[in-house]
Amino acid sequence: MEYSVRSKSIIDSYPVDNFLPDIGIDKVREELTDGLTSSPKFIPSKYFYDKKGSLLFEEITELDEYYPTRTEKSILADFLPLLNLNFTDLSIIELGSGDPSKISLLFEQISPSKLNQIVYYPVDISQSAIESSISLLTQKYDGRNINGIIADFIHQVELLPKVNNKLICFFGSTIGNLKRNEIQIFMKKLGAVMQKGDNLLLGIDMIKDVKILENAYNDSQGVTASFNKNILNVVNKLLGTNFNPSKFEHLAFYNNQEQRIEMHLKAKENLQIEVSSSNVELQIKQGEMIHTENSHKFNSKDIQQFAYWGGLNMENVFNDENNWFILVHYRK
Ligand code: SAH
Ligand code: AVI
Repeated sequence: MEYSVRSKSIIDSYPVDNFLPDIGIDKVREELTDGLTSSPKFIPSKYFYDKKGSLLFEEITELDEYYPTRTEKSILADFLPLLNLNFTDLSIIELGSGDPSKISLLFEQISPSKLNQIVYYPVDISQSAIESSISLLTQKYDGRNINGIIADFIHQVELLPKVNNKLICFFGSTIGNLKRNEIQIFMKKLGAVMQKGDNLLLGIDMIKDVKILENAYNDSQGVTASFNKNILNVVNKLLGTNFNPSKFEHLAFYNNQEQRIEMHLKAKENLQIEVSSSNVELQIKQGEMIHTENSHKFNSKDIQQFAYWGGLNMENVFNDENNWFILVHYRK
């Protein structure tokens, strides 16, 4: 996450819009301080994704236990013709794009002459994710048709490009990292920026056996634990705190009532944390937990509810053979 001066920079001569400075570092510090002085304490999960966090997430996607990525990719591999898209002057906007491996699976199903007419807008809060995505894609495709956007897709939905004939992609079940009331507001805002005929492809992780879910967030190599603890390094940079991540234990479990995996950081001992940007001191008791992520899991009723909130029609649902993960095609 970068909070430098608002800029339209050129990375390797391709355009990138950075809208994060519009939110401002003071707002970020306020949001983090609110979370860390609440009871129970929490850190919003969007703060996972500095350069190291984005790389750790990529490592997670390759773990045996983390089934969502490979399952969604297996669905994405050969279904594009079924969407019946109009490729003339199509704009593809990918929210929380991360690395470009999923969108590449779509590009591979489009002929070069049609691909030339498409503009691709990866949108991510992580500057490093946008930079490396553009750099990888331009090695394979025509870079003039890529416009990176560094923005917060929750607070800045209205800044998405106002273009006709849009396909919005939101993969990875990242929507599950929002609370249900946040999903309602998000879907309403997203529906409002879509015009009649625009399409949305939404990746959704389904409710399944608790063991499979909990293993996915408690991998044997401890990569998810490192990803979870790294959020404290990000907070140290943004808020000027002196958290020592090794003083915390990684916890991830399924909350059956809320139908979500929760990730927490549990203090191994009593801690006093200084906040240099505000002269506040945080007291954390041994055993106290900081809630860092919710990853909601869904059922078929939920995906109909999303259509209703966004004012969208549900066109089609694509699933894997176990129905562990689905891709929902909505159209306005
Ligand atoms: N789409 C990829 C990456 C998912 S990881 C996949 O399916 O594998 C989630 C991504 O969303 C990260 O790249 C993270 O930086 C981004 N992200 C998280 N919260 C965000 C927010 N509020 N606004 C914009 N991007 C966000
Ligand atoms: C990005 N997001 C959908 C991932 C998830 O599964 O909730 C982030 C993640 N957290 C731990 N492992 C992966």
